[in-house]
Amino acid sequence: MQWGLQNRLSRIIRPADGRTVMLAVDHGYFLGPTSKLEVPRETIAPLVPYADALMLTRGVLRTSVDPGAGVPVVLRVSGGTSIVGPSLADEGLTTSMEDALRLNVAAVTLSIFVGTDHERQTLLSLSKLVDEGERYGMPVLAVTAVGKELEKRDARFLALCCRIAAELGAHFVKTYYCDGFEKVVEACPVPVVIAGGPRLETFRDTLQLVHDALERGASGVDMGRNIWQDGHPVAAIQAVRAIVHEGHSVDEAFALYTKLAK
Ligand code: 5RP
Repeated sequence: MQWGLQNRLSRIIRPADGRTVMLAVDHGYFLGPTSKLEVPRETIAPLVPYADALMLTRGVLRTSVDPGAGVPVVLRVSGGTSIVGPSLADEGLTTSMEDALRLNVAAVTLSIFVGTDHERQTLLSLSKLVDEGERYGMPVLAVTAVGKELEKRDARFLALCCRIAAELGAHFVKTYYCDGFEKVVEACPVPVVIAGGPRLETFRDTLQLVHDALERGASGVDMGRNIWQDGHPVAAIQAVRAIVHEGHSVDEAFALYTKLAK
């Protein structure tokens, strides 16, 4: 891997432990003013000190993140759809590599929609982005999106998606945790991080998810709702960090969360 690309990637996935806590705040790109992310700056600012990277669009980056914050950015460069439109899968590239470089981001990211009418267009967008990323030293994160079809989140399907993303050159992949997750990671030759998905019943469930994913080979998380929709988001992200970077058990991390949430 070329130096610039490796340097950028090492700002996201810490070389010390090969792990990362990315904070996903890109939901508005198709959901609009998502609950607890209505005013992005208010949600993001208190969490920045605990995030290894932020995943977001250029609009929220420019308006809602202090350029001096020093946090690495994974810039979402795909979109063009909305939750009220005909198909979430019908995404294209929304942001140029030139703008990503101007914004000095650490990586770019797009969603791929395998198994939909739009798989070809989203996979070719990934290939194009990787070509440009290789040219400019910019890592590419592929998100194996499922749109509204959350039931698709099983090991066979996600392994297919992650492997295709890696084969097309993605430098790291974001997917969902599932039963048999180790098979997804084994078959994917680049680092895999997990999304949190819709809010789980309890925060302890979130910690269990993070713990199980790491035990089965994930390189970390790129989570949103289960952190910032929690009643105590700053405590929540610190508890997730404790599992990812400090090897806490679920019980230890939950005790930390309870203490910090007081
Ligand atoms: C949407 C995304 C989101 O960033 C992703 O789903 C992570 O957020 P959450 O933990 O809320 O699921 O990539 O395609």
